[in-house]
Amino acid sequence: MLNGKRILLGVTGGIAAYKSPLLVREFVKAGAEVQVVMTRSAAQFVTPLALATVSKREVVSEMFPRPDDPNSTSWTKHIDLGMWADIMLVAPATAHTLARIAHGFADDMLTSLALALRCPLALAPAMDVDMFLNKTTQQNIDILKESGCFVIDPEEGELASGLVGPGRLPEIDRLVAFVDGILEKIHRDLSGKSILVTAGPTQEPIDPVRYIGNRSSGKMGFAIANAAALRGAEVTLVSGPVYLRTPRSVRRIDVSTAEEMNTAVHLEFENVDAVIMSAAVADYTVANPVNKKIKRETMPGDELTLTLKKNPDILKSLGEKKQNRVLVGFALETDDGIKNAKEKLRRKNLDLIVLNNPNEPGAGFNSDTNVVTFLTPAGQAEHLPLMSKFDVANRILDRVKSTLTWLT
Ligand SMILES: Cc1cc2nc3c(=O)[nH]c(=O)nc-3n(C[C@H](O)[C@H](O)[C@H](O)COP(=O)(O)O)c2cc1C
Repeated sequence: MLNGKRILLGVTGGIAAYKSPLLVREFVKAGAEVQVVMTRSAAQFVTPLALATVSKREVVSEMFPRPDDPNSTSWTKHIDLGMWADIMLVAPATAHTLARIAHGFADDMLTSLALALRCPLALAPAMDVDMFLNKTTQQNIDILKESGCFVIDPEEGELASGLVGPGRLPEIDRLVAFVDGILEKIHRDLSGKSILVTAGPTQEPIDPVRYIGNRSSGKMGFAIANAAALRGAEVTLVSGPVYLRTPRSVRRIDVSTAEEMNTAVHLEFENVDAVIMSAAVADYTVANPVNKKIKRETMPGDELTLTLKKNPDILKSLGEKKQNRVLVGFALETDDGIKNAKEKLRRKNLDLIVLNNPNEPGAGFNSDTNVVTFLTPAGQAEHLPLMSKFDVANRILDRVKSTLTWLT
């Protein structure tokens, strides 16, 4: 995958930076073009001259061009390089730079680039064991993963400090394989396509403090939005209330009730090529929510009866007007899955239905993995093995892409 690819290699001020020239050499040997971007601290550990020599390109470090530099012809390098690259890898990534990227700092060339990037961002944290296990570093890594960055775990072993534990930069061949694996998964094959994704639960109010909801975490929909954006699509994510960060380059619209989701989805629908409805939309809402908190002391008797009414069927209404858009739905079934999903596929005029059962090991709401079966209008059924929600997302997008190609 590396042949002909353009790699931005970010080098930061960790002891493992001395290995960076070897990493550049391996990328170059595999046929990639490498542009090195280094922090000021990195230059304490490895010289720009060494990196420029092996990459055969001037190393970029400073944000602002020097007036006396005859090569300073581009004043927006942090944007230009972000558009040039197929992938950016920061290796080694210090605790300091992980924190800066996680929180959107853009105080040097490397972090500005990370923020402006349109391609996948991969990170290889490397540091002393205590810095790595520190809660703040771990939280920053979680933030980065949730925002759609690819993070390779450091290896365990003896560290520069003499301490032993996780923190070592992975061996060069593992880093090369890591980048290769990401490039294999992420092609910019959805560029120019516009995709609407829904995610999460809806909350149907009973009174100002209580609601009827469900256990959807939103992880499946967010994985789809992330994967679609990485593949170059313009992504709008309509999300119910969830505790997840918005993936990079995704436009997010927050809603609470099924009615709000219905309005938002129909507004966006006109401008998209495909809709993937993974949200767990409530079938029913409370008919008469009250605007003051219900107090048990003031309610007569031991029982409280709520009257529910049907919510709009968003999928069905989209199916009725979809024309040449691709429409994907999800079916969450605990019994008679295939039969019910087939029926839903037909009733709602879908191009694909993704069936899952929350009771299967590795599937379900809060899990990072899923086990799904794809069903198509032609009667085709494909059962996928247990895989990450990100991988499931890519398989769904492969189907969306081939249906779009077939439609046009
Ligand atoms: C000898 C030495 C080795 C260091 N090694 C690391 C390291 O492996 N990982 C790390 O996160 N920080 C390390 N640091 C600390 C960073 O250099 C420091 O946090 C710096 O601000 C990082 O800047 P940068 O992220 O902009 O490159 C080291 C510092 C020294 C003096």
